[in-house]
Amino acid sequence: MTSLQPVQRIAEVRAQLEDWRSHGSIGFVPTMGALHPGHATLISQARAECARVVVSIFVNPLQFDRKDDLERYPRTVEADLRLCEQLGADLVFVPAVSDLYPAEQLCTVDPGPLATHLCGAHRPGHFRGVATVVLKLLNVVEPDRAYFGEKDAQQLAIIRRMVADFDLAVTIVGVPTVREDDGLALSSRNARLSVRERRLAPTLHMALRAAATKIAEGATDVNAIKDSAHTAVPRDPSVRIEYLDIVDAGDLQPVAVIGRSPVLVAGAMWIGETRLIDNIRVEPRR
Ligand code: PAJ
Repeated sequence: MTSLQPVQRIAEVRAQLEDWRSHGSIGFVPTMGALHPGHATLISQARAECARVVVSIFVNPLQFDRKDDLERYPRTVEADLRLCEQLGADLVFVPAVSDLYPAEQLCTVDPGPLATHLCGAHRPGHFRGVATVVLKLLNVVEPDRAYFGEKDAQQLAIIRRMVADFDLAVTIVGVPTVREDDGLALSSRNARLSVRERRLAPTLHMALRAAATKIAEGATDVNAIKDSAHTAVPRDPSVRIEYLDIVDAGDLQPVAVIGRSPVLVAGAMWIGETRLIDNIRVEPRR
C-alpha cells in the first residue's frame, strides 16, 4: 500500500490544483503507466524544476490503432503509484475511460502533415489520438511545464506544434532518451520481449547509430545511408523493419539529401509481436 492515493475524477484534480496553483509552478508528466526508469527521469526532472508534480496514468484507447495492442498493454498501477511516491510526485491522476471520454469524442486534434511520415504513416489515427488526449489532459491539469521524452520524437514535435498553434500557456520540456547499457531504449513494451527477442532488440538502435555515424562523417546520400542502416539489422524470421527513415528534425518531412539542417534518423522494428521505436537526432557536419 502507498499513502499516495490515485485521483480518478477531473473535478477532484481541478479542486486540488486550484489550491496549489498560488504556491508555485505545476509540473506535469503524462504517461500510460507501466512506469520504468525512462518515465522516472521525466518525473525527477519535473520534481527538480516545479513546486508541485502531477503524473497521469491513462491507457488512452483513442491512440491505439490495434485492439489487441490496447488489450495487451501492460497495466501495473500499484507499482506505478509506489514509484511516483518515491520520486516525490504530489498527485497521480488515474482516470477511467469514462472519466475522460464520458461521450464519444467527436472533436479531435488533427496534427496535419506532422503525422504523415514515420510512425504516423503506419499507425493511422494514432497521433490524432495522442494529440487529443494530451490537449484534454493539459486542459485538466493546466500545468506550467509538461515533460515528454525525446524517445517519442514525432509525438514530441506534434505536441510542441499543437501548443504553439493553439496558444496553450504551457512550456513543453523534452527529455533525452533513457537506454539500457546495450542501447535499447526503455519502453513499457520491452516487458513483452522473450529472452531471445530481448537479445535481438538493440539492433534497432545499432542500425540507427550506423546511419547517424555516416551522416556525422559527412555522407549526404540518404538512400546509401539507409542501406548501411539496413545491413546492421540481423536476418532473423522474428525481426521485421517497419521503417527506417531520415527526416528534417523540424518539420519531420523526408529529406533526399543531407543538407545543413539537423535530421532525425528514426525507425520502427517488429520483433515477434512487439513493436519498438527509436530515433537519433544528428547535426550534419558543416
Ligand atoms: P508513455 O509511452 O507511457 O510515455 C510517457 C512519456 O514517457 C512520454 O513522453 C515518453 O516519450 C516518455 N518515455 C518513454 N520511454 C522513455 C525513455 N526510454 N526515455 C525517456 N522518456 C521516455 O507517450 C505516451 O505514454 C502517451 O502517448 C501519452 C503522451 C501519455 C499520451 O497518451
